[in-house]
Amino acid sequence: MIEKKEVGEKAVEYIKDGMIVGLGTGSTVYYFISKLGELVQQGLSIKGVPTSKQTEKLAIELGIPLVSFREIEQIDVAIDGADEVNPELHLIKGGGGALLREKIIAKAAKTFIVVADSKKYVETLGTFPLPIEVVQFGYEMTMKYIRELGGNPKLRHKKGIPFLTDNGNYIIDSSFQEINRPEELEKSLNLLPGVVDNGLFVGMADAVITIVDNKLVTKVRR
Ligand code: A5P
Repeated sequence: MIEKKEVGEKAVEYIKDGMIVGLGTGSTVYYFISKLGELVQQGLSIKGVPTSKQTEKLAIELGIPLVSFREIEQIDVAIDGADEVNPELHLIKGGGGALLREKIIAKAAKTFIVVADSKKYVETLGTFPLPIEVVQFGYEMTMKYIRELGGNPKLRHKKGIPFLTDNGNYIIDSSFQEINRPEELEKSLNLLPGVVDNGLFVGMADAVITIVDNKLVTKVRR
């Protein structure tokens, strides 16, 4: 919890007056959003674009003004968490089920910064089951195709019923053992009928704020 707070709060250093800021989802970025809320109360003028209904609610509670894509051309900086980060700064995201909006916002951002505690850092992606957002219709077939790609797909449930994303879709969590070619897998999955998007974020993160040997470190993509 302390690491999450440390990396989350560090990210506010990237926020300047007048920016449009992508607001991620999850327990790490929560600390960033809370700190940002404090700065807004003190007079910082920014506008946020939330990656989920959960974050939208939090931002409203904290008094952070929000904008939608109807009103903006791009986002200055987006800050978000991750479930796994590899040495090339490729990510697995979507543990909270918000991967689609997260990817739309990360792509729209000039700079995309990830906040991740030391447990998120891995040599090879794939221990964390990859979240895949799929449409409800025919999801059984989509699961079959994911199996053919080497995955072990499971439909995500919450309180005994299928979990629904903010977009009304299902999430399939699929382990792939080791993901050695994340770029290839990201594309192959997105070509399957029924797949809306998946939680592989390849070449998107510009920097990752994390903890190494108990020290706060910012790793920048080369
Ligand atoms: C939400 O869908 C995810 O992509 C989160 O960003 C990710 O699961 C990290 O969440 P925590 O910061 O809660 O670990």
